[in-house]
Amino acid sequence: MKVIVADNYEIMSKEAANAVAAQVKKNPYSVFAFPAGGTPIGFYAELTRMHKEEGLDFSHISGFILDEYIGLPKDHESSYRFFIHNKFFNHININPEKIHVPCGLAKYPEEEADTYERIIKGTGGIDFAVLGIGRNGHIGFNEPRTEFGSRTRPIYLAKRTIEANARFFGGDPDAVPRQAISMGIRTIMNSREIILLASGVEKSHAISQTVHGPVTEMLPSSVLQLHPNCTIIVDEDAGSELKPSPNGFVPGSGVRTMIY
Ligand code: PGA
Repeated sequence: MKVIVADNYEIMSKEAANAVAAQVKKNPYSVFAFPAGGTPIGFYAELTRMHKEEGLDFSHISGFILDEYIGLPKDHESSYRFFIHNKFFNHININPEKIHVPCGLAKYPEEEADTYERIIKGTGGIDFAVLGIGRNGHIGFNEPRTEFGSRTRPIYLAKRTIEANARFFGGDPDAVPRQAISMGIRTIMNSREIILLASGVEKSHAISQTVHGPVTEMLPSSVLQLHPNCTIIVDEDAGSELKPSPNGFVPGSGVRTMIY
């Protein structure tokens, strides 16, 4: 597993944006999975800058969001549809027909999730998934105990996730939806390449367990140890509990790269 520790949040965001830009240039028709959350805001800002200042062309990519709350209208300011448009899609030249977000108000969420999974398969699968991580090791909204074989489906949020996400709902945990539709672990693991971003000391334990701990459904992100092409990109704080790699590290500009 490859781990890049960046000196700070800004450099972490740039590293992640550079990886996505390289993928877009390598295959302009790439299919991406993108996360919501606080962590990727700088990453989306950097990709937006690359589009506006350097002409990075997103016109042929497909973008699937990893997850969406159940019960929020599309234009709700805390919906992930709103987030991804507000922070990213509205500022680049992605084709609106190639944007995919599950409908949080679907009458039958199971069917909505199955359809989402089918659309992903129909594109040929995800080439490049960008992930965040919860303090409990969730990826997407796959909370601890999620089966590694899971596909896109409706899920219940863990209590810790509701508490952590209350900040996006005026600090009120009661306002956070209890359910979401999330890509499954298998859906994510089928991506050809994965990067996972984490920032801040509150993620440091989840990150060290993801890299060094046992592969267990109790920590969903630990499954990434089994992925052949996954890079974890963290800032200094999120990487503060990592053990030194037996292979040492490769220094770069504001980053060091380790292989575990
Ligand atoms: P955050 O969320 O970026 O807002 O910390 C990440 C996650 O819960 O997956």
